[in-house]
Formats: sequence, C-alpha cells, structure tokens
Amino acid sequence: MKDKTSSARREFLRASASGAALLLTACGRTSHAPASEKQKHEGEKADEVTATEDLMREHGVIRRALLVYTATATKLRTEASAIKPDALQKAARLFRTFGEDYHEKKLEEAYIFPAVKQAGGDAAGLPDILITQHNRGREITDYILAVTQGPKIGTKAEPLAKAMEALVLMYRHHAAREDTIIFPAWKQTLTAAQLDEMGDKFEEIEHQQFGKDGYEDAVKQIGEIETELGLSDLAQFTAPPPPKS
Ligand SMILES: [Fe+2]
Ligand SMILES: [Fe+2]
Repeated sequence: MKDKTSSARREFLRASASGAALLLTACGRTSHAPASEKQKHEGEKADEVTATEDLMREHGVIRRALLVYTATATKLRTEASAIKPDALQKAARLFRTFGEDYHEKKLEEAYIFPAVKQAGGDAAGLPDILITQHNRGREITDYILAVTQGPKIGTKAEPLAKAMEALVLMYRHHAAREDTIIFPAWKQTLTAAQLDEMGDKFEEIEHQQFGKDGYEDAVKQIGEIETELGLSDLAQFTAPPPPKS
C-alpha cells in the first residue's frame, strides 16, 4: 500500500517537472486515478507518506511493543504463570528486527543522526545520547530474548519485569524527543526534493531489509501479539470517569 502510493506520488512529482505526457503516464499508475487535474493533486496529497511521517509511524509500532512490555511487566508480578513466554519472545523479536535493526540502525543512525549532528544547534547534542540508548536497548532485548526462550519464565519474573519497565521508560523519552526535536531538525536540513528522495531511499532500504512492506507486516505482527496477550480490544483502555469533586 505505502509502496504503491508513495512511489506513485514521487513519479507524479517527477512527471510534473518534465512534461504533460509523462504526467499522464505517472498518474495512470496511481491506484485511484482521479478524473480532473484538481482531483489528481488532491489524491496525490492524501496518499502522501513523507520520510518523517514514515519514521513517526514506525514509532507507533515501537510504542505498541512497549505497551506490550508494560502490560506484561505488571502481570509478571501478580500472575507470572499467566504470561506466555512465546508472546513476549515474539514482541522482542519484532522490537529487534523492526525497531533496532531497521528503524534505528538503517535509518536513524545511518541518515538522521549524522545530518542533525552536522547541522549543529540545540538538537545536535542529542544523537550521542540516543545512540547510547539504542545500544542499551539492544542489551535489554538480548536479555528478554534469552529469558523467554523456555516454556516458563520462573524465577526471572521480577528481574525481567524491571528490565522491561526500564526499557519502556527510556524509549518513551527517547521516541518523544525524536518526534519533537530530532525529526523536525533533520527535515530542516533538507529541501522538499531531497526529503522526497529520502522517502524513496527509506522505501528501498525497507524492501532490502524485509523483502516486502516491512511496516505493514510489523503492524500485522504487533496486532497478533496483542491478541495473544488479551490487549487487542482498545475499549478496555478507556479511562474510568474521574471521581466526583
Ligand atoms: Fe532512536
Ligand atoms: Fe526512533
């Protein structure tokens, strides 16, 4: 989905620059070929997935994995035997392949952080800390993967709960800084055309890494993990009304 729409958008932009004949060809390849010229532009805007939006929606997947860790940590303390190590193992594997090996290593550490550091300013001081946190996250993921291998978590319940809670707190701060400081600072280092090229580049990396649409697949995987752990019904998280004052 993302692949088709973002590629179509980029082709549309290139075609706009190089002539009407190409424009028609490019628009003909969009999945929702609109009728009028105005509608073509509207359709292109609605389908747009920029490089920064891409990074932020990847954070959405990472946050859902963190929510799995939070719910699991609580349960490990009250009813450890109810936790399926396999579901946690799947969450940690997703965190590793999608969060650490792709989002962090292939995008943030390779493209975003070097550009933000080079640009200077307030944001330039953060990448070194963010990299230290990526590395600590990898150590904790190694630990989660190791202790959830067997059929039972057993005596590791408390240290595992503590390690997951520490990881969650670190990443809540980490991703919030990236969303509000790092990604906007990175965007400022690029022209609109360069940002568009980065979108292409990220898409290419995603396909190299996963051989398909990694984001769509990651959303599907986290959904399955949530179902396995009884976390898929969003309504259960609606807050109760506040006490009467
Ligand atoms: Fe990061
Ligand atoms: Fe990130």
